Amino acid sequence: MDKVEEVKQNALQEIEQANDVATLEAIKVKYFGKKGELTALLKMMGTLSAEEKPKFGAIVNSAKEEVSEVLNKKMDAFAKAEMDKKLQTEKIDVTLPGSKIIRGSKHPLTRVIEEIEDLFVSMGYDVVAGPELETDEYCFERLNLPKGHPARDMQDSFYITPEYLLRTQTSAVQARAMMANTEKTPLRIIVPGKTYRREDDATHSHQFNQVEGLVVDKNISFADLKGTLEIFMKHMLGEDTKLRFRPSYFPFTEPSYEVDVSCFKCGGKGCNLCKHTGWIELLGAGIVHPNVLSMNGYDPNEYSGFAFGTGLDRLAMFKYGITDIRLLYENDVRFLKQFDRKDD
Ligand code: DAH
Repeated sequence: MDKVEEVKQNALQEIEQANDVATLEAIKVKYFGKKGELTALLKMMGTLSAEEKPKFGAIVNSAKEEVSEVLNKKMDAFAKAEMDKKLQTEKIDVTLPGSKIIRGSKHPLTRVIEEIEDLFVSMGYDVVAGPELETDEYCFERLNLPKGHPARDMQDSFYITPEYLLRTQTSAVQARAMMANTEKTPLRIIVPGKTYRREDDATHSHQFNQVEGLVVDKNISFADLKGTLEIFMKHMLGEDTKLRFRPSYFPFTEPSYEVDVSCFKCGGKGCNLCKHTGWIELLGAGIVHPNVLSMNGYDPNEYSGFAFGTGLDRLAMFKYGITDIRLLYENDVRFLKQFDRKDD
């Protein structure tokens, strides 16, 4: 029993002197481990008589309990101190504002498309989409361009099969919208979207963007087309913009026009942007060909319409003074940042 008291006192003293968790762990092993001193005392029980055993057992157990309680308390104290230290040094203030992530800015084409959509929606138009992988039928045939028509040469196309191609013009959606409208009621649509042709240089990209416009109704005339394009171009390029209609040819309109706008850089006096002509060619347009109406289910004796199409890349380039179309497709953040506006 003296031995028990002695071991206990030693253990308590060692615990008292320990300065860190590792020392405490070592003490734990020294006294409580398989070969520990307190464990050894319990093993001694085998040598005792039946009366001594319970007494001795109780004393050893109470010594073990006492030592282990003191040990655990000190362990907890160390753990808490360590945690406090960690909390002090690793303190973060979650209420601080985060570091700012640099925001991208709207692509110039997106800006132009949104501006056009807002304008035409305000005039009662629907914004319509069509497939980029288009059939020969919708891209050409239903627009009065049968197979072998010479005007097909104007558009160098990417054919996937003889019947499927990447659409060369958003005009394909004119036919789609007319066919889809089974009631054959009046139509007023614009179609912004991607188009594809086999060409690549500073002013042509194999992928580009167009917006198509189509109005089909009773008594639609050239005056409606002219007024609409005037509103459109003035809205995009400034109130002083003038329009010039030149006779041209497109298979799906008759008569057809190329539409020029007065150069907004020099106001029409002549500069390098307009190649000293004062005018910039921007749109194709015309009165919907009767064949196109009838091929897509509208009676040309009852209905008439106008249509127009323009390249959005070209429009964006003029509007923002961009000189190489490829910049629009390279996704260089330094380029895009220049169009950052506070009002977006
Ligand atoms: N689709 C023509 C092109 O890509 C542009 C065009 C011309 C569209 C006249 C029209 C139009 O709707 O009436 O060159």
